[in-house]
Amino acid sequence: MYLYGASGHGKVVAEIAEECGYSIEAFIDENLSKKSVLTYPVLHEIPPYDIEMLISIGNNKVRKRIVDQAEQFHYVTLFHPQANVSRSVRIGEGTIVMAGVSINAVVKIGKHCIINTNASVDHDCVIGDFVHISPNAALGGNVSVGEGTHIGIGANVIQGIKIGKWCTIGAGAVIISDIPDGSTVVGNPGKIIKSRNIKNRIVENMKLKVWLSSPHMGGNELKYINEAFDANWIAPLGPNVDGFEQDIEKFLSGRVKVAALSSGTAALHLALIECNVGHGDEVICQSMTFSASANPIAYQGATPVFIDSEKDTWNMCPDALQEAIIDRMAKGKKPKAIIVVHLYGMPAKMDEILSIAAEYDIPVIEDSAESLGSKYKGKACGTFGRFGILSFNGNKIITTSGGGALVCHSQEDKEKAVFLSTQARDNAPHYQHSHIGYNYRMSNISAGIGRGQMEVLADRVEGRRKMHDFYAEICKDMEGVELFSEPDSDFYSNHWLSVITIDETKALKTREDLRLAFLEEDIESRPIWKPMHLQPVFEDAPYYGGKVAETLFGNSLCLPSGTNLSDEDRERIAKVMIEVLSDKKEYSVSR
Ligand SMILES: Cc1ncc(COP(=O)(O)O)c(C=O)c1O
Repeated sequence: MYLYGASGHGKVVAEIAEECGYSIEAFIDENLSKKSVLTYPVLHEIPPYDIEMLISIGNNKVRKRIVDQAEQFHYVTLFHPQANVSRSVRIGEGTIVMAGVSINAVVKIGKHCIINTNASVDHDCVIGDFVHISPNAALGGNVSVGEGTHIGIGANVIQGIKIGKWCTIGAGAVIISDIPDGSTVVGNPGKIIKSRNIKNRIVENMKLKVWLSSPHMGGNELKYINEAFDANWIAPLGPNVDGFEQDIEKFLSGRVKVAALSSGTAALHLALIECNVGHGDEVICQSMTFSASANPIAYQGATPVFIDSEKDTWNMCPDALQEAIIDRMAKGKKPKAIIVVHLYGMPAKMDEILSIAAEYDIPVIEDSAESLGSKYKGKACGTFGRFGILSFNGNKIITTSGGGALVCHSQEDKEKAVFLSTQARDNAPHYQHSHIGYNYRMSNISAGIGRGQMEVLADRVEGRRKMHDFYAEICKDMEGVELFSEPDSDFYSNHWLSVITIDETKALKTREDLRLAFLEEDIESRPIWKPMHLQPVFEDAPYYGGKVAETLFGNSLCLPSGTNLSDEDRERIAKVMIEVLSDKKEYSVSR
């Protein structure tokens, strides 16, 4: 037989071929000027006649190029006598299995591969053509490796992983998630550091960017979705919707009734409708919030009356609320509802707000879009008002990709919400409508994601709170930097987002300095919500209070708070903060 390639790898292959009883005629190597290697002659071109050959070159691309040009040869497959290969393994031509290799049951290995010394390949793995598995690399069961991929020395791939084509897995890397085609992966856990095509580049960028708050799946979401597919419950409604509602009810208290809807905004809209808010009415709303808190007021043809924040919780100021109610009533209009928000997960001062609302008999709607898992005096946010709303938007503490819920206190209120959210169909065999309806119900597929997410909600709350602790540690000695924190033990925030305020007179840096420095490092941070009374779209709306919300807006920044950030991500965040806010301080993430 002939060996194509007379480098170091060629010498190893020559010895294996000898041990397997082959007699070697010569090496073939166009690039080697030597006349012989070991005891064999070196030819500088491929002989023109039919030969038995093995390509003894470690580089996968080169082996493929040679095969593409020299398909006509009969390629030998070699097994070192000290390799331990199960009877049920199938191996393609031109592949070499070296000493000490273990290949377990039902493995399929393609053509022209190298399974190098002491590598191990567990049951049911599928290895494509032109793959090189380096010495001491280990593949768990059911791993698949695409054509041309190189697995470095001592790399480990856990069971069930799919590695794409023409990837490079660095020496010692530990692969715990699937790897797309063309990726270069290093480290433990393996991180993609290079991709060779545009599609992969997007994946790589997603991995490298540190997001403010990205979805964090728990693992069982697909199980519930698959159940929906298996039962063909793809249309809205179905067992996942019921199950998800029950999960939320149990989490919040067990006494509330929850209607799963298409968004938190939809839930607010239905809450206003159920509070009989209509054209020409006024609704009191916290100014410091996302526009979705206020928009449904306009959907109903009503006018928002905005209220400033107080300094402890950044939420609705009870004093300004009382002033507003008295003034609006003096002007001839009693507000129809009060929308209070638990901003970034921080509970509002509910005792004061509820007692003012009760004094004037105005229903409270709690916008708990950001505060699932937060508590005020031990009671879940979202359960205090006449209605509460939740959001499962992609950036929230748990997500259904898009969705929301209305928290009610009676079955009747829930049924009304369900009726309105499903086009308000009267009870008749034909399509009969006596009310205007909406298409606001959550789908059974989204609810499947929600059920999986509810299983990990407690972990997510803990994780967000740990992110808050992480920032507390970084900021503790920083002059002029304050982390938004609970005023006292009555308040338990899920810390959906961690937020800092920067007093530029003391820190000598601004919120923008930090935001731009983060941006440079591909780390997402955001100014806090711009108060609604400062928004052009609401410029004519009445406003009560001073400049608390406005000042906070000017100097506060939301920091990356996701529960799926890695230690490395946190190190990057800490580095930027320390560089910008206190040059001298050192910080290291404890692993
Ligand atoms: C305070 C607040 N209210 C309402 C909403 C609206 O929720 P959704 O996006 O589910 O409509 C959000 C989030 O998007 C929010 O942060």
